[in-house]
Amino acid sequence: MNIEEYILLHSDAEPEYLAKVNRATHLKLINPRMCSGHLQGRVLSMFCHMIKPKRVLELGTLTGYSALCMAEALPEDAVLHTIECDEELEDFILQNFAGSDHGYKIKLHIGDALTEIKKLDEIFDLVFIDADKREYLAYYEAILPKLIAGGFILADNTLWDGKVLKAVDSNDKQTIEIMKFNDFVAKDSRVEKVMLPLRDGLTIIRKR
Ligand SMILES: C[S@@+](CC[C@H](N)C(=O)[O-])C[C@H]1O[C@@H](n2cnc3c(N)ncnc32)[C@H](O)[C@@H]1O
Repeated sequence: MNIEEYILLHSDAEPEYLAKVNRATHLKLINPRMCSGHLQGRVLSMFCHMIKPKRVLELGTLTGYSALCMAEALPEDAVLHTIECDEELEDFILQNFAGSDHGYKIKLHIGDALTEIKKLDEIFDLVFIDADKREYLAYYEAILPKLIAGGFILADNTLWDGKVLKAVDSNDKQTIEIMKFNDFVAKDSRVEKVMLPLRDGLTIIRKR
């Protein structure tokens, strides 16, 4: 047994419907590894139980797995906005939301995250950043004014497969931009922050 299997054995099981969405994601997509999956899904759900947000924003829906994990822990009157740029995923995402008891809490926006954020007239309690790795810093600056004081940002993939520790190829825009984001947030006095070595790295940021 490896450490991940041990962790999963001692955490809640993946809810049946989410396991179905996870399997369907693996059958349908060329790169299903992008999907949060069992462990991170349980972590996102637990964070929502802890934070009790009423307004949530997600950047990067993929097939809706992470949105559904957060939605299950939200109260009935909460809203989760999720933004996805790949319009070919729209029908599959909506089908996944429709089949869940919690899908009604989720509002899907198809379009570029930076463009769609500007259109949202909301103040958020929690934002999950998981879209284009080259835009993390731009996302951060765009959402910070729309985050309530004491609100949280969760930024995924901040260890980027360990590439943040190695010499970077000048063409590797994703690693360069993730590193810029990490360095910027580390020094930003507007927020408190802690980086967790969960899966591909998850940074928790709290606005002061
Ligand atoms: C890592 S996946 C998201 C995984 C999902 N949050 C989950 O855990 O199940 C990243 C998603 O962001 C989307 N994306 C990439 N660039 C984007 C952009 N500029 N605006 C909105 N979505 C974008 C991709 O199409 C992809 O579906």
